[in-house]
Amino acid sequence: MAYQYQKRVPWTEIFRPRSLYEVIMTSRMRNQILNWWRAWIILWNLFRIWNNEERAKWMDFLKTSQGKEWANKYLRKWKTFFQQEFEKWAGAPSRGETPKSHTLLFQMSGKETSTDLKPTALREIRKWLDKLWGKFLSQTADENVPPAIPPLSPYKPLLLVGPPGTGKTSTAYALAWQEGVMIVEFNASDRRSGSVVREIVKEALKSAGFVIGGDPSKPPRIILLDEVDGLSARDDRGGFAALMRILDEIKLPLIFTANVIHDRKVRALMTRCVTIFFDRPQEYQAKALIKRIVSRMKMDVPDRIVNFLAKYAPDFRTIIEALEVYYYSGVLPEIFHEEMLSLQDAIRYAFGFKGKNLEESISRAQRYLGSVTDVDPWELILWVWENAYSFLDHSKGLFGFYNQLALADYLYKIGARNMNWRIAYRDAMRVLATAMARYGRHAKNVWELRKIKVNKPTIIEELYRMKQLMEGQLEEEGEAEEAEEINVKKLGLRPLLERYARYTHTSRKRARRELRFLIHLARAKPEIVGELFAKLYVPKETISIFTKYAFKSKKERSEIEGRILNAYEETLNKIGPRAEFLKMIPPISEKAEEKKVKEVPEEKKEAKKKPKKKEEEAGKVTLDKFFG
Ligand SMILES: Nc1ncnc2c1ncn2[C@@H]1O[C@H](COP(=O)(O)OP(=O)(O)O)[C@@H](O)[C@H]1O
Ligand SMILES: [Mg+2]
Repeated sequence: MAYQYQKRVPWTEIFRPRSLYEVIMTSRMRNQILNWWRAWIILWNLFRIWNNEERAKWMDFLKTSQGKEWANKYLRKWKTFFQQEFEKWAGAPSRGETPKSHTLLFQMSGKETSTDLKPTALREIRKWLDKLWGKFLSQTADENVPPAIPPLSPYKPLLLVGPPGTGKTSTAYALAWQEGVMIVEFNASDRRSGSVVREIVKEALKSAGFVIGGDPSKPPRIILLDEVDGLSARDDRGGFAALMRILDEIKLPLIFTANVIHDRKVRALMTRCVTIFFDRPQEYQAKALIKRIVSRMKMDVPDRIVNFLAKYAPDFRTIIEALEVYYYSGVLPEIFHEEMLSLQDAIRYAFGFKGKNLEESISRAQRYLGSVTDVDPWELILWVWENAYSFLDHSKGLFGFYNQLALADYLYKIGARNMNWRIAYRDAMRVLATAMARYGRHAKNVWELRKIKVNKPTIIEELYRMKQLMEGQLEEEGEAEEAEEINVKKLGLRPLLERYARYTHTSRKRARRELRFLIHLARAKPEIVGELFAKLYVPKETISIFTKYAFKSKKERSEIEGRILNAYEETLNKIGPRAEFLKMIPPISEKAEEKKVKEVPEEKKEAKKKPKKKEEEAGKVTLDKFFG
């Protein structure tokens, strides 16, 4: 008997989804992926038609001087024209609805939409191509007309972006398996990028002509370029640039995956791909996976643990691995032992709770930070950055802290780009923890810390907005915003009232009442008002609107405004500018607002919404402070 070597297959492999329907994602994402794939099937058949019926004639024509002339003049135009028209006709819409052409060409049976072509599909595709060619010729209106259609250009690649363990690689494989298509994977991280690109081209050329075996109406291969962020790190070898250049030559469906969207090059890719964002699992999604595994393995897992996992596991992979450990050992892996802190608390504690010596403070800070598992380290760095000012011990000077923060950020990015996670996670977090432990203001009790508000970094909001924009969710709002921009001038005192209300946790109506107060104050002590405005980050333009509103006499106004602005600038210099994502509020006519206030008094509404208001009270900026 042969020697049997038994190796346990890890659960992440056992539970790899076999079809797109087993990958847990929203139906919109799934539709988008299916639509992308269908577009490629249509294109593949266009290629087949071209190869069989046009290629030879075109090649002959290209040898003639007439052909060369035509190609010089129009080939490029034709390619972009084709690309645009194809996208319109068969492309994957970002909202995930099915294009009409797909309904025409594919057998959509039952609920699960299929990728099998109808018997009439080839004829329809040919018809479309002829019509398109006719349209192009009528545009050029040249007497020199080619006897055949020139070569067609490819469709976009698919780009899957999201944190590790959320199913990007699985999606590519699931699609390939479900469709009976071979998948060729290039992992950018373990090869020299130049050679990766060369191989991709080779692979793509191999299939550009004819198909051997399989379903000839589907592309024979999907090319998967996993973790392109790794590739982009090696730009000195020109891998990424080369890739972008050859994107138009690759006549096979290409799937990219990437972990981060803040990489410049991933963003460049986003503009040329159908991009799908993978999120960390929602609780119900995590539960679905847990249920699947628990029932398949006939495990007995207490509800307490199911809920805990669903709530705190940062991704699907972690869930599977945790359940595997639980199955064999009866306990969850160690990372789940720490009590989980909210991000806000983790930041508060890491800054505030000191140990006996620096070393102990650092390891404490590190532990607090480490207990937050649902945030990328990079995001964590941003959170700390945004909130550091209010937690720092200013007597120690701030230069050292920001220096270390920059170092942590640098380390993380270097590590992440090279996929050296030891540097990215451990070292960067260590530097961050050191900075927090060394420069944080010592707190004696939790309640003191709780009073300090922890804000979300504005850049994260911006990234989120960008994501929504890419998914087409924000389109309408965006249009509205453009219209608002024209109205910015009409906003008047609104930005001031907005900010004042927000920072003092009162309603805008109340803020308007306190405006009278501000006017008095401005007359008596303009410097204090200037300082206040700077701290509220009131836009500069608003200040002159304010003085114009408040002081009718020109002489008085210009003097007061000057003094306010001086103090304003001085304070801003001290506290530094804030990169705020300004959301313009549409001007509402006074009347409309008055009515709204009558219906639901805003103060009451706010009180209902924010029962924790008292805790934040001390962190407020109120006028009282400025009188004190
Ligand atoms: N959305 C998902 N649905 C089901 N299983 C998933 C999902 N995401 C990840 N998994 C599981 O986690 C493992 C790792 O996922 P993977 O696709 O390699 O993640 P990524 O490529 O995003 O890092 C897979 O083997 C799979 O079993
Ligand atoms: Mg992967």
